[in-house]
Amino acid sequence: MRTWEVIIIGGGIIGLSLALALRKRGMRVLIVERGEPGREASYAAAGMIADFAPELPPLLLPLAIASARMYPEFVHELQDESGMNVDLRDNGTLLLSAHAASGLGWKSESETQSGLEFVSPEAVAKLEPELKLNEHVAFFRKERSVDPRALTAAAIQAAKHREIDIVSGNPVEGVVISAGRVSGVSTGKTAYSAPVVVNCAGAWAGSIPPCQFPTRPVKGQILAVIGAPVLRHVVRGGEVYLVPRTDGRILVGATLEDAGYDKRVEPDVVQRLQQSAIEMVPALRMATLHKAWAGLRPGTADGLPILGETSTGGYFVASGHYRDGILLAPITAKVMAQVICGEKLEYDLSAVSPLRFEEKQLAMG
Ligand code: GLY
Repeated sequence: MRTWEVIIIGGGIIGLSLALALRKRGMRVLIVERGEPGREASYAAAGMIADFAPELPPLLLPLAIASARMYPEFVHELQDESGMNVDLRDNGTLLLSAHAASGLGWKSESETQSGLEFVSPEAVAKLEPELKLNEHVAFFRKERSVDPRALTAAAIQAAKHREIDIVSGNPVEGVVISAGRVSGVSTGKTAYSAPVVVNCAGAWAGSIPPCQFPTRPVKGQILAVIGAPVLRHVVRGGEVYLVPRTDGRILVGATLEDAGYDKRVEPDVVQRLQQSAIEMVPALRMATLHKAWAGLRPGTADGLPILGETSTGGYFVASGHYRDGILLAPITAKVMAQVICGEKLEYDLSAVSPLRFEEKQLAMG
């Protein structure tokens, strides 16, 4: 009978990255995935590595900045182990703001702190000739983007290469607890044993009993166009963002919807996204809709992820990454591996601890 030291629930980029970090420490790891690995939020994401305020809650910035810095090495290892290219680009981002200092909530001081550089309309015309500024001003930020589908595919390949076991199509129905400690997981079909379980189930994390931390799905509809003039930079406006890929696709995203686990794509929403994109880059009128899809981000009540050990010994969680699962994958894998292996922590994780929800419940009840 096969045995494992760690079971990870969920084969998205978070679960896969953590599995690799634990495997590198010599642990035997099993991933139990409800559907197909890498086919939920990781598959739907745009892949902007945006590690600055006000895009992120201030408490998350140290982890986000560290994660963005880890990206080249993270990608290098995955590409090396998988033999796949994940389209890591570092052409930077143009951010459009309705007002020079406050349109998107930036103040001049935070512009500098966030690495935003004002770009004159003449310079924008040179950097991105098809972009129409309308009434906006532009800022440039040195920032990377990645193709999350390729990244996740590479992580799956690397996991196989490192002999991480993956069980697909098997939703975990509960975490098994014996004598106050975790002892494995049960699915509709079977049960798997391990002394450590990590819940990386994204938008589903909070609904797996014993349900010690709440997560909720936040739907995002997004699309890709082809046959358009090539954009060099990620462009972020008030309504939509445009993320170019090296193969010529341009992603246009994304909605933020409270729609439960509904992943339907609505033609009128797709049209609205396309229209907003055309307002920013009129030449996109010539582009053809390649594909549209929807994903479910794992949201939390305070906008922070949930990282750490629960009050049940051996039961950990790494979920609730909301819009930033791709950005935060490298640092999540690093800090969670440190927590699980009892190593010295490099970051204070108290703000993102799962215990914050239990403490709140105690205070209320
Ligand atoms: N990370 C981009 C989004 O959630 O739309």
